[in-house]
Amino acid sequence: MNEKIKKIKQHAQELRAEIELHNYRYYVLDNPTIPDAEYDKLLRELQQIEQDHPQLITADSPAQRVGAAPLKAFSQITHKIPMLSLNNAFDDAEVEAFDRRVCEGLSVDSVEYAVEPKFDGLAVSLRYEDGMLKTGATRGDGYTGEDITSNLKTIKSIPLSLPVRTPPSLLEVRGEVLMLKADFLALNQRQLAKGEKEFANPRNAAAGSLRQLDPGITATRRLTFFAYGIGEYQNAHMPQDKHSQVMAYLAALHFPVAKECTVVTGLQELLAYYQAIGAQRESLPYDIDGVVYKVNALLQQEQLGFVSRAPRFAIAHKFPAQEAVTQLLDIDVQVGRTGALTPVARLKPVFVGGVTVTNATLHNADEIERKDVRIGDTVIVRRAGDVIPEVVSVILDKRPVDAQVFAMPAHCPVCGAKAVRLPGEAVSRCTGGLFCPAQRKQAILHFASRRAMDIEGLGDKLADQMVDNAIVRTPADLYKLGLTALANLERMADKSANNILSAIEKSKQTTLARFIYALGIRNVGEATAKELAAHLGSLDRLIEADNERLQQIPDIGPVVAQSIVDFFAEQHNCEVIEQLRASGVHWDEHAGEPELSSAAAPLQGKTFVLTGTLPNMSREEAKESIESLGGKVTGSVSKKTDYVVVGADPGSKYDKALSLGITILDEAGLQALLQ
Ligand code: IVH
Repeated sequence: MNEKIKKIKQHAQELRAEIELHNYRYYVLDNPTIPDAEYDKLLRELQQIEQDHPQLITADSPAQRVGAAPLKAFSQITHKIPMLSLNNAFDDAEVEAFDRRVCEGLSVDSVEYAVEPKFDGLAVSLRYEDGMLKTGATRGDGYTGEDITSNLKTIKSIPLSLPVRTPPSLLEVRGEVLMLKADFLALNQRQLAKGEKEFANPRNAAAGSLRQLDPGITATRRLTFFAYGIGEYQNAHMPQDKHSQVMAYLAALHFPVAKECTVVTGLQELLAYYQAIGAQRESLPYDIDGVVYKVNALLQQEQLGFVSRAPRFAIAHKFPAQEAVTQLLDIDVQVGRTGALTPVARLKPVFVGGVTVTNATLHNADEIERKDVRIGDTVIVRRAGDVIPEVVSVILDKRPVDAQVFAMPAHCPVCGAKAVRLPGEAVSRCTGGLFCPAQRKQAILHFASRRAMDIEGLGDKLADQMVDNAIVRTPADLYKLGLTALANLERMADKSANNILSAIEKSKQTTLARFIYALGIRNVGEATAKELAAHLGSLDRLIEADNERLQQIPDIGPVVAQSIVDFFAEQHNCEVIEQLRASGVHWDEHAGEPELSSAAAPLQGKTFVLTGTLPNMSREEAKESIESLGGKVTGSVSKKTDYVVVGADPGSKYDKALSLGITILDEAGLQALLQ
């Protein structure tokens, strides 16, 4: 190896350590010390080195977190130390019995426990050999799981190598992969915008993401990991006394350990911990389904041992079941903001996961048919996190003879306009538009909501009254309201009317993103509204943007673009916007990002991969020329790649391009295309 390459190798190694440290600060400590742009620069520099010198690539390189090729199938991995399950306790008495068994088994009066959240994700085992992440596997049946190494490597909070000079020769770290609630909501918004199916809950989303054969897809889903234990290890400085010390050891090796993990003594403190975590449950950034109690002293754990497949020294104290059985009394049809008709189950009240549920969504006509739900049936209802309760299935054995089949109405139950179901759509919609009082109410509620115009005090009841009394027909009417009109509403005192008026006044000062979101354009959620505001900078540019311009904005596909164009093509909508501006609703605007005219962007939508050294152009130059014409340059070859540009000494990307039958260009070919 010549001196120059040695230097580059050394520099790459420094970059890797630095990038992984920033990953740790950002994803594990939640405390980044450099701006995103700086981080991106470091990563790009490393990617460049690895592209130019593929022989310098290492298995633990953060530039290789994404980049593994799609698999045909997962292979199997055996867990030498099985991944066991936990017994469950569903109430205080069962916890008391557990604590009693533990005390008796150890012949002591009281025991110290390590207590932890019970993460509602997927168990995985990470195997580090000589400090390098070698394999990662699912739990499977506890004895054999699937090799999902490439997918796990895309999770930025999982260390690719252990940050110590003399790492253990072997260490298996066990824990749970999950998706944060916020990342789940954002993912579903993107799914919706792309016209793809939403995920039911963060656990399903995490499972679906980990089960991908193409790690490129997993990489687009933000997943998180929390460690909760260890498997096999050799030559590790593993604490031998307490589980809590093992967790501290893992934290020191940069593994994420939930900050809710702690140590308590005795039954009363176990139950207090359960209460405390239960109270925080909704506000935790991830879903949990209970807490876990583990005897803290490792020697005591050993003394207690295992019964069949679960340890005697640990138990999961579950939160109340999120599913319950009840009777379906009737099916009503609700009209949403965009006119969607949603069948809603009216239920015999039932206690589920801490609240009494009387309504649950049945989604749409197809779902009712698929689940064969009939009025009068006995059904299973589920409540998951913040999601609206849903009817999961029917208990057919209990179906009464007079159970009634439900049919979606042909007309809107609120305004009587025709209901239509467009081809390819799952829902029927009321065609009444804003003439339909139900849609009007929802539009106003959405407009006033916290993340939109944030008009405090304007809730369900008030929106109903405003629309029913015809003092508000569109959001613009809110800004024309006088004290008398408001105070005349039933049960509205002067004081509350004044509060509403000042909240409305306050909302006039807003941001472009909020305003766009508040308009309630179909398929435009909060994240999309932010993108639109950031890229276009002004409302007028949004109104004027055509389908093609809109699709130049990241994450905006043809479906969303068309919804936006349709919205502004509606004269009525433009009038409402004009009235809002005239009433003094305002926000800051900026110049936005320059538009690529279609003549100037002939490579729009085309993806390129560069490999090897080109005779006359540097890689940067080639990349810039492609991007200036609207094309994209990515680091790895996949089915979606349009062209692979090959220079001297190409890497494996060339072989891959050949095997996938992708168009290969040399520099001359690229030049011709650029012309
Ligand atoms: S310890 C020997 N700790 O629950 C016990 N498990 O039913 C090994 N889980 O498959 C598990 N949070 O996926 C442990 N803090 C926690 C956990 C936890 C979630 C899951 C794990 C396991 C299942 C056991």
